[in-house]
Amino acid sequence: MEIRKVGVVGLGTMGAGIAQVSVQSGFDTVGREVSDELGERGRTTIERYLARGVEKGRLSEGELEAALGRLTLTTDLGELAECDLVIEAALEELELKRELFAELDRVTRPDAILATNTSALSVSDIAEATKHPERVVGMHFFNPAPVLPLVEIVRGRESSDGAVDAAYAWAEQAGKRPVRCNDTPGFIVNRILIPLLNDCVRVLDEAGVAPEEMDKAMTNGAGWPMGPCALIDLIGVDVHVHASEALHGKLGDERMAAPERLVRMQQDGALGRKSGRGFYEY
Ligand SMILES: NC(=O)c1ccc[n+]([C@@H]2O[C@H](COP(=O)([O-])OP(=O)(O)OC[C@H]3O[C@@H](n4cnc5c(N)ncnc54)[C@H](O)[C@@H]3O)[C@@H](O)[C@H]2O)c1
Repeated sequence: MEIRKVGVVGLGTMGAGIAQVSVQSGFDTVGREVSDELGERGRTTIERYLARGVEKGRLSEGELEAALGRLTLTTDLGELAECDLVIEAALEELELKRELFAELDRVTRPDAILATNTSALSVSDIAEATKHPERVVGMHFFNPAPVLPLVEIVRGRESSDGAVDAAYAWAEQAGKRPVRCNDTPGFIVNRILIPLLNDCVRVLDEAGVAPEEMDKAMTNGAGWPMGPCALIDLIGVDVHVHASEALHGKLGDERMAAPERLVRMQQDGALGRKSGRGFYEY
């Protein structure tokens, strides 16, 4: 099925980025927010990022205007009825997502693809809230969505090959590098990266290493493009702790649990770049 019109549910950090990817790739896109104010805030975020692209010469003023012209805003899920693909990027709460999918299932055509950007919930559990779980898949973007190329295309228990292939093809058309995987906790990248980053933080205390030295070790000894402490600061300590707790809850492996040091940083408000202070000062 050809995807012409895209819906994005939630224009927060991820949803605004995903909507930007969509409009920049030429798709008419309907952004749904819970209030007009939040919708406008989402549009402003997109406009600001696109304007930065114009300043840096990555796109022209005309392309910015055309991209913004493809975005419409609504507070009504019913206005997503004509969409061929809907990507949900609302709060990470199972009940909320199940309610949204039950409603999306009612308002969209039965052949439209419904995708969730969940990081840690089960795509199959969300899909169960619909009458057509075969058209539900995961599309896990990485933050910032307009910048990071990877999209994990997650096959739920009942996802059809057609739905997985359509989501994959759309991601490629939108300039992304999609990868298919099953609906397992943490999918691919988080399943590997979260325990690995937690190990790095534990080694700081076990081996008496300063964050700068840890980052020097991993960039120079393991060829990482960025050190683990700088990476956690970029992700956000709170986001990382939350993801660790979710994976620990599902897999029970102690390496997934957030290290004490990160929990203390979160309690102290040292959240990384976004708070001006984490392992480093910003
Ligand atoms: N932030 C990340 O690094 C990241 C990366 C990949 C995936 N995700 C996933 O993306 C999703 C969104 O995360 P985010 O970081 O953009 O969060 P966010 O807090 O920035 O945005 C949450 C969105 O949910 C909306 N919302 C709140 N209450 C709602 C309700 N009752 N009904 C419908 N929408 C409601 C908000 O208006 C907002 O648009 C989550 O599932 C998260 O796990 C996040």
